[in-house]
Amino acid sequence: MNRYVALEGIDGAGKTSVSAALALLLEAAGHEVVRVREPGGTAVGEGLRQILLDGPPVTPWAEALMFAAARAQLVTEVIRPALGRGAWVLSDRSVYSSLAYQGAGRGLGMDRVRRINQPGLRGVWPDLVVLLTVSPQEGLARQARPDRIGAQGAPFLGAVAEGFSRLATEEPGRFVVIDAGRPVEQVVARAWDALGVGG
Ligand code: TYD
Repeated sequence: MNRYVALEGIDGAGKTSVSAALALLLEAAGHEVVRVREPGGTAVGEGLRQILLDGPPVTPWAEALMFAAARAQLVTEVIRPALGRGAWVLSDRSVYSSLAYQGAGRGLGMDRVRRINQPGLRGVWPDLVVLLTVSPQEGLARQARPDRIGAQGAPFLGAVAEGFSRLATEEPGRFVVIDAGRPVEQVVARAWDALGVGG
């Protein structure tokens, strides 16, 4: 069963509303759901989130390592225990954001970013990635106040989107790609099918 589900996409793709709708459906079907967001979800992670999204300039590798550090803490404190007791984990973003934003967007290389994340994750990896696609222009227009990374502009977000679609092509069994320009009920229905819960 695909219990660790990551919602992914560029800034403004609508991950949070889709995750909230999926949580309601899962709960209605009698499942425990733990919702998390990256970076964040732990005291350490929320501190790093502040630095990463609102803080001073950070070098690309320092950025990649801080995202990986926040994720290592989240996996140990929250995700692994939740999966261990049979809960579903719905995550706004995951290691795949690092591959796309730092690996492709910042140009660090998706394989190198994957390698710095693996030790901290200790085998905990999203079972299913729901990739919501939207054009960089549309994504930027949908954001009320872009964060430090989301404010990099359309060419950067274009490179990130390109990274995400490369990952989806490389791992077709793990990804479901949904056009986020469609009405939200259709997006949610398609994502719900992908969860494979039935009912
Ligand atoms: P977030 O608060 O999730 O907002 P949204 O997804 O609505 O834009 O923003 C997190 C920001 O951090 C976003 O710009 C993507 C970026 N990010 C990375 O660059 N790498 C990562 O590994 C993660 C988790 C996020």
